[in-house]
Amino acid sequence: MFEDLLREWDGEHAVIRHDAESGAWIFVCVHSTALGPAGGGTRMRVYPTPADGLADAMALSWAMTQKMAAAGVPRGGGKAVLAVPELPQGDARRRLLRRYGELVTSLGGSYRTAGDMNITPADLDVIAEVCPYVHGTSGGGGDSGRGTARGVHHGIRASLEHVFGSPDVAGRTIVVQGCGAVGAALARGLAAEGARVLVSDVDPAKAAATGLETVPPEDVPDVECDVHAPCAVGGTLDAETIPRLRCRIVAGCANNQLAEPEDAERLREREILYAPDYVINAGGVVQLVGLEDLGWDEAQLEEGLAKIGDTLRELYRESDEAGITPVAAAARLVGRRLSRPAA
Ligand SMILES: NC(=O)c1ccc[n+]([C@@H]2O[C@H](COP(=O)([O-])OP(=O)(O)OC[C@H]3O[C@@H](n4cnc5c(N)ncnc54)[C@H](O)[C@@H]3O)[C@@H](O)[C@H]2O)c1
Repeated sequence: MFEDLLREWDGEHAVIRHDAESGAWIFVCVHSTALGPAGGGTRMRVYPTPADGLADAMALSWAMTQKMAAAGVPRGGGKAVLAVPELPQGDARRRLLRRYGELVTSLGGSYRTAGDMNITPADLDVIAEVCPYVHGTSGGGGDSGRGTARGVHHGIRASLEHVFGSPDVAGRTIVVQGCGAVGAALARGLAAEGARVLVSDVDPAKAAATGLETVPPEDVPDVECDVHAPCAVGGTLDAETIPRLRCRIVAGCANNQLAEPEDAERLREREILYAPDYVINAGGVVQLVGLEDLGWDEAQLEEGLAKIGDTLRELYRESDEAGITPVAAAARLVGRRLSRPAA
């Protein structure tokens, strides 16, 4: 029910439109503008009900607020969902995207979009024909997977330093689960620095294309390694998989890695250091905001991405000192930044 969702949501505003021509429901959720205009991607998906689409947009926009604040980016959190009856193609897709772009334009920049599930740079080009608030077009800052992978690389170095006293990846064994845009780039970057990298993907061709040692997907949690890097889908860490892990660190790009909040404590009890997902995977937004809004060059981008490692170092210190999980320390950090926005 839309009414219940809206009543219970703690965001600033949600715009809801039914698009008669396509039958799509459009949801734009601005969760917070405390740190700047709300940023977050547009997701196109078929949902069981329109309310599931709104609930997804609300939850994802909350997560963007956390991610932006933890990354120290001057942006708030937002997200949009196009809940379609089926994925539109050709002219029908183009017309829907343009109508969606006009809606985002009418919000005057309080929400700025980018790509997400089923939205490509070519789709963003269409939206940008009628909307100035678009990141990640084909002529823009490029595929955010590059920045995400580099940010995770810095996060893995910071995590290794905390556990082993040295950030060096050379000689470390790292398992990368999922060889998509981020996982494949991450795996190659780590291997180039001398790590022993094992990769896995439900699509064996994608794993093989990396040229690295492969592991069957079902065996990934059991592999003895220094770092387990979830880079596929959410919810892979749960009461069944956590006891199987034979690693010292979990650090990867996937969103919502923990199946339930208790999993953070389960990892801590096993003395496995966990890099909170929304902190370590913020490199994509750092890339898009840095290159497209803040006018950064590549050197400044690399500096911005390295800060993800610095943030994790701070969180690990705080979690040790306070006897809390890194997830709890990340929530505290976000709370501090949201209550005291930088001038
Ligand atoms: N692309 C970004 O900039 C970005 C930013 C932040 C977070 N993320 C998150 O990181 C994850 C990966 O993103 P991506 O852009 O690389 O996606 P992608 O779709 O390009 O790649 C995901 C890969 O995981 C594989 N996969 C799916 N289920 C698997 C399983 N059970 N075991 C092994 N492999 C499996 C898929 O075959 C695919 O190759 C997603 O959870 C995404 O939400 C991505």
